[in-house]
Amino acid sequence: MTRRRRLYEGKAKVLFEGPEPGTIVQYFKDDATAFNNQKQGVITGKGVLNNRISEYLMVRLAEIGVPTHFVRRLNMREQLVKEVEIIPLEVVVRNVAAGSFSQRFKIDEGTPLPRSIVEYYLKNDDLGDPLVTEEHITAFGWAATQDLDEMLQFALRTNDFLCGLFVGVGLRLVDFKIEFGRLWEEEDMRIVLADEISPDSCRLWDIGTNEKLDKDRFRRDLGQVAEAYQEVARRLGVLPEAGPIDIKGPKVMQ
Ligand code: TMP
Repeated sequence: MTRRRRLYEGKAKVLFEGPEPGTIVQYFKDDATAFNNQKQGVITGKGVLNNRISEYLMVRLAEIGVPTHFVRRLNMREQLVKEVEIIPLEVVVRNVAAGSFSQRFKIDEGTPLPRSIVEYYLKNDDLGDPLVTEEHITAFGWAATQDLDEMLQFALRTNDFLCGLFVGVGLRLVDFKIEFGRLWEEEDMRIVLADEISPDSCRLWDIGTNEKLDKDRFRRDLGQVAEAYQEVARRLGVLPEAGPIDIKGPKVMQ
């Protein structure tokens, strides 16, 4: 195994220098955190499943014209992505009230929203990822008005497409968080979907039973956490062939 330069370690992923200039290797860990790192744990096999689930969703999105950073999956826990400059915003799309939205507006979890609502949060752990407005974003230069418009369009298209895709496998897409990056090609800059889309970053409820099949099982100590991620992968048809036995995987290599 050749040694690779570790560029960044986040809560759920490690980024390594890629094999060609302008590429990055995303390594998916089993580590899970919640409430801005206050709760920490391990979800066995999560990294393998999120690698596959995110690959699947990003490839499907690219097919309908939402540009992404994804290049190809390399192995059980790693995928090759294009190097982008991450825009420091978490773009959240909500279809049904849940989580912080339910708390902020005192609306029962599970209440359908009159229309899909898009929110922006600043990616800043020290500030606890505060909710921000378009005014804050443009005034502080986190993104230009034009970039923000594009992100909004991509977020809504992603939502429409993923809602349909998940309904097809009996899941309700309650809400999700996505991140975008600036991809520089020569002098041109394009905004593309980056990071990951997985049960870490989505709320997915079984359509029939409302059972939660996402990271809320970890956040709220509901048990059967790894099983929920496996179920999402199974329904999407991307559960590794050898099944859950195969998902322990190697330790991070540098
Ligand atoms: P929230 O209701 O806690 O604001 O979460 C909204 C959505 O964003 C939910 O699908 C979980 C996801 N999310 C993340 O991916 N990362 C985070 O740090 C937070 C707070 C939420």
